[in-house]
Amino acid sequence: EKGLRVADKGFLNTAVIQSRITYIDGEAGVLRYRGYPIEQLAGRSSHLECAYLLIYGSLPTRSQHNHFESEVLRHGVMHSDAQTFFRSFRYDAHPMSMLTSAFAMLGSYYPEANPSLQGQRLYTEGDRTSLENMDRQIYRIIGKATTLAAMAYRVRQGRDFVTPPTGLSYTGSFLYQMDHLGEENYAPNPVLEKALDVLFLIHADHELNASCTTVLQTASSLVDPYSAVAAGCASLYGPLHGGANEAVIRMLISIGKPENVPAFIEAVKRREKTLSGFGHRVYKTSDPRSFIVRKTADAVFAVTGKDELLETAMALHDAAMKDEYFIKRKLAPNVDFWSGLIYRAMGFPLDFFPVLFVVPRVVGWLAHWRQMMLQEGGVKIWRPRQIYTGSGKRDYMPVDERG
Ligand code: SDX
Repeated sequence: EKGLRVADKGFLNTAVIQSRITYIDGEAGVLRYRGYPIEQLAGRSSHLECAYLLIYGSLPTRSQHNHFESEVLRHGVMHSDAQTFFRSFRYDAHPMSMLTSAFAMLGSYYPEANPSLQGQRLYTEGDRTSLENMDRQIYRIIGKATTLAAMAYRVRQGRDFVTPPTGLSYTGSFLYQMDHLGEENYAPNPVLEKALDVLFLIHADHELNASCTTVLQTASSLVDPYSAVAAGCASLYGPLHGGANEAVIRMLISIGKPENVPAFIEAVKRREKTLSGFGHRVYKTSDPRSFIVRKTADAVFAVTGKDELLETAMALHDAAMKDEYFIKRKLAPNVDFWSGLIYRAMGFPLDFFPVLFVVPRVVGWLAHWRQMMLQEGGVKIWRPRQIYTGSGKRDYMPVDERG
């Protein structure tokens, strides 16, 4: 094929779009949402305020923020039929399988989101009705992400679903739905609520990671955003991506005590084990989010008490950071290395950790989806080519003549 060139394995050094949303400098360890450094946002903003920033491009005024927050919270309610959906899973189903299916199920409630019923041009800049339709999809997916996650959590425990009272924050409503056991006047612990909000904020977007690429690849056929988000959820589930926060804890449990770290490091160097939570396709010095997570962990441990795996994690971190094998390969802790310790300290089940990655990341997926739907010249389906390396033309042979 003339002019075609195969992208490096894993799309290394391949840009498939131009984007105004998130900026990463992998060499300098820089991450900015619409130009704002992640360190400033983590210290002063909130997850929902950053959601508005990522999706619409500027920090909201107070009234824009209040409207966005009330719409997201209002759309957080799920149709009671969804309870039957969740109860149809095996009692020990992985919550990521449940959540992936739930997003696809969600799309079946909203035929107006189905492009086939609406023709090709669903959303147009300046067309108020279509922009309001797009906003409604965005409110629903962000609002219901926490509700679906909480449903997956409670159905596993044989508990009824609870609707949070008004007046709680987005993260507070989520914790209410997760933890409420019927006690009167339950309110989430403010330190844990703030810590989880910081974790949501720093997980909100990360430009074209595998799951965001999956969402855009899927959405490029003009399917509804619920189905595209379900596809992104499936991609994020993998241990090389969002599943790493669960894999890190399983790794630390398998190592056990800090004195077992040197043997583990040697096994990694012999490629018998993977050091989950280390390495990154883009960051080649450090993942700026890992420092924010590490600091947040101290605030959480002050409330919950230290996790006995922390010593092992710190020993593993220190050993890897000064070992030539990792230095030469530019491997440093990524966002997943410390986050699992926080989720564990907060009492979330181990296999629920990737769900805590999806809930905030639907924001980044939607920001990129909106950018694609409104791009100049309309949406073009993503259909890459290949370089064919198979056999030349050959003729069919009846089965009795084959060797
Ligand atoms: C996330 O893309 C994103 O932005 C993702 C994310 C986001 O916010 O969306 O940041 C979230 O997914 C973070 C990454 C979570 N995954 C893990 O922690 C799993 C462990 N990490 C590795 O699997 C790996 O580092 C990746 C998948 C993250 C990146 O892999 P790359 O870019 O394809 O790098 P590579 O496999 O080519 O590694 C380069 C070298 C190789 O050694 P050599 O074969 O050249 O000798 O580094 C080695 C790798 O073997 N290596 C590791 C390692 N990661 C890479 N060796 C041991 N342990 C590791 N963790």
